[in-house]
Amino acid sequence: MADRTLVITGGASGLGRGIAEAALARGWAVGLIDRDGDAVETVASEIGASAAAADVTRPAELTAAFERIVATYGPITGLINSAGLTRPAPAASMNPDDWQLVVDVNLNGTFYACRAAFPHLAENAAVVNIASIAATRGLPGRVAYSAAKAGVVGLTRALAAEWAEHGIRVNALGPSWVDTPLLQGMIRDGILEDDFNSRVPLGRMCSIADVAESALHLLSPGALFITGQTIYIDGGYLWSG
Ligand SMILES: NC(=O)c1ccc[n+]([C@@H]2O[C@H](COP(=O)([O-])OP(=O)(O)OC[C@H]3O[C@@H](n4cnc5c(N)ncnc54)[C@H](O)[C@@H]3O)[C@@H](O)[C@H]2O)c1
Repeated sequence: MADRTLVITGGASGLGRGIAEAALARGWAVGLIDRDGDAVETVASEIGASAAAADVTRPAELTAAFERIVATYGPITGLINSAGLTRPAPAASMNPDDWQLVVDVNLNGTFYACRAAFPHLAENAAVVNIASIAATRGLPGRVAYSAAKAGVVGLTRALAAEWAEHGIRVNALGPSWVDTPLLQGMIRDGILEDDFNSRVPLGRMCSIADVAESALHLLSPGALFITGQTIYIDGGYLWSG
């Protein structure tokens, strides 16, 4: 049994993997959940985590994945919901299946993972949901993603209020652009605005380390009185001029 166990959905890539590596370096035991079964097994064995394949839109798969991780490490002290994707498209011509998928993975999947984790959460456990600047900024072509991430912010507030009586804190992080496979896909598809970096007052992109450090802080005793919040990690982008 481990002293501190962190479960990360979307743990096979990008931010999920980065947060996992940072947590392992601080002594956490880490269980990764991802839809991509091969990738999650490979990443887990590379970094020293355990793996469980599950699609966050399928509650029964999540239940089995959490049970598997808890059987290895014991109760969960931290949950990061990082599984996510985007399907940029103009709203008027967007395929309804794409709308459904984006909302299902980013919003419904976050709820299903919180619900599946709940019976295994230790007292004083903390949940960190990965939202986005898109939750609060209107970016053309990302109406489903914006709606889903705004939903994650609302879910975070309501769950924080509901689970406070169990000593469980629930917060969210809203990163700006981070260089991960998700962002690379948007660059390849010509979706990303050319000047996205020049509009960041601190003058650079958000890094995986920026997000990992904030996530670990929210999980730590230093954040024991923070719940229901969404912290935007954006170098000042959202609230500037
Ligand atoms: N990269 C950015 O610029 C950025 C900015 C803000 C927020 N985010 C959010 O951060 C989170 C992580 O994104 P990333 O950039 O690391 O992307 P990524 O594509 O590198 O990683 C996402 C992971 O989620 C997994 N996943 C997707 N659908 C799943 C499902 N149905 N069930 C289980 N796993 C699933 C993928 O297999 C992948 O391993 C997402 O929620 C994303 O919306 C990313």
